Amino acid sequence: MRRVYMDANATTPLLPEVMEAMRPYWMEHFGNASSIHQPGQQARRAVDQARETMARFFNCHDAEVVFNSGGTEGDNTAVFGLLHPGDHFITTSIEHSAVLQAANRMARHGVETTFVAPQPSGLIDPTDILRAIRPETRLISVMLANNETGVLQPVEEIGKIASDTGVFFHIDAVQGAGKIEIDVRRIGCHLLSISAHKMHGPKGIGAMFVRRGTPVDPLLVGGSHERRQRAGTEIVAGIVGLAKAAELAMHSLDDGTIYRLAALRDRLEAGVLELSGTGVNGVSANGKPVSRAANTTNIWFDNLEGEALVIALDLKGVSVSGGSACHSGATEPSHVLMAMGLDKTRARASLRFSLLKTATEADVDHVLSVVPAAVEHLRTLSPVAAGTLG
Ligand SMILES: Cc1ncc(COP(=O)(O)O)c(C=O)c1O
Repeated sequence: MRRVYMDANATTPLLPEVMEAMRPYWMEHFGNASSIHQPGQQARRAVDQARETMARFFNCHDAEVVFNSGGTEGDNTAVFGLLHPGDHFITTSIEHSAVLQAANRMARHGVETTFVAPQPSGLIDPTDILRAIRPETRLISVMLANNETGVLQPVEEIGKIASDTGVFFHIDAVQGAGKIEIDVRRIGCHLLSISAHKMHGPKGIGAMFVRRGTPVDPLLVGGSHERRQRAGTEIVAGIVGLAKAAELAMHSLDDGTIYRLAALRDRLEAGVLELSGTGVNGVSANGKPVSRAANTTNIWFDNLEGEALVIALDLKGVSVSGGSACHSGATEPSHVLMAMGLDKTRARASLRFSLLKTATEADVDHVLSVVPAAVEHLRTLSPVAAGTLG
């Protein structure tokens, strides 16, 4: 059976070039980048080169790149590393749990958080951020692209507010990296987190831009790695893989790949929307989708259960994810969709299609060939359709 993976926002496979770039660093070039002998220095050179690539990717100085284990660590570092008892923190109610749970933990340490809600379109209004600022506000954290809807947030405007008011600004760019250009100087942020596995790099490796002079306490202490900002022996192969993925992502932003991806996403979306009782999550008041990451669409389906549709599509070879997540054994509707004002039933009956950079017309054709029948079938069975489920 043909399989089409449309869950790139969960994770992506390595591109072959990434695999090839990493390969020598597992065995032949296994040195510890802190050792002074030749194998160590070879590893050091690879890390230094990767740092230069990441500095180009962020548009920052090499010394402002810190390698870490990924998005969760970057998000946690921003929150735990900058906030102290008595500080006020501003974030949004649609952030990833790596920010939300960190904020919840900081509540126990005397840090109050304001969770700014999005508009129904999924966009954060920068004036809501401005209104939330208090004299004791120390940090604002807003994502670049939402993982569920793909909605791109107005980070440049928020960066301006942060700079005018003297507040530190962190961006979770995990879902934006590789999909739109990142320029930390233009945005004016102090911190920015990315993760390799969302951009066709390996899992367990990421990087953070930390603007020079930003007083972030490291999350991990020990050796003097990463200019004492992140202790732990560098995972050289992972770092090389991240940098290769970033290099390929920079090409994709220049060579039209992202436009091609957006066109595929739009065709997929238009095809699914031909079904009655469907709509996009992430539209403005005029019904037009707001600016989104090129690979993502989130669509609601009336009169069916989203989880059943995810399973039905999986059985037909299509991998997507639904609008609910499992928390402590119970299925909860997505906090992002709920914050955008969807009711529980519609949030549960929403599906995220997120395309890999390597997606093809044939992939879209396949998905469009199975979705209508699966939807129609479930609608005939659904207790939601029969009105027996609240
Ligand atoms: C927006 C966002 N932030 C952070 C993370 C966490 O990244 P990682 O899996 O690298 O820890 C994810 C992963 O799903 C994400 O989508």
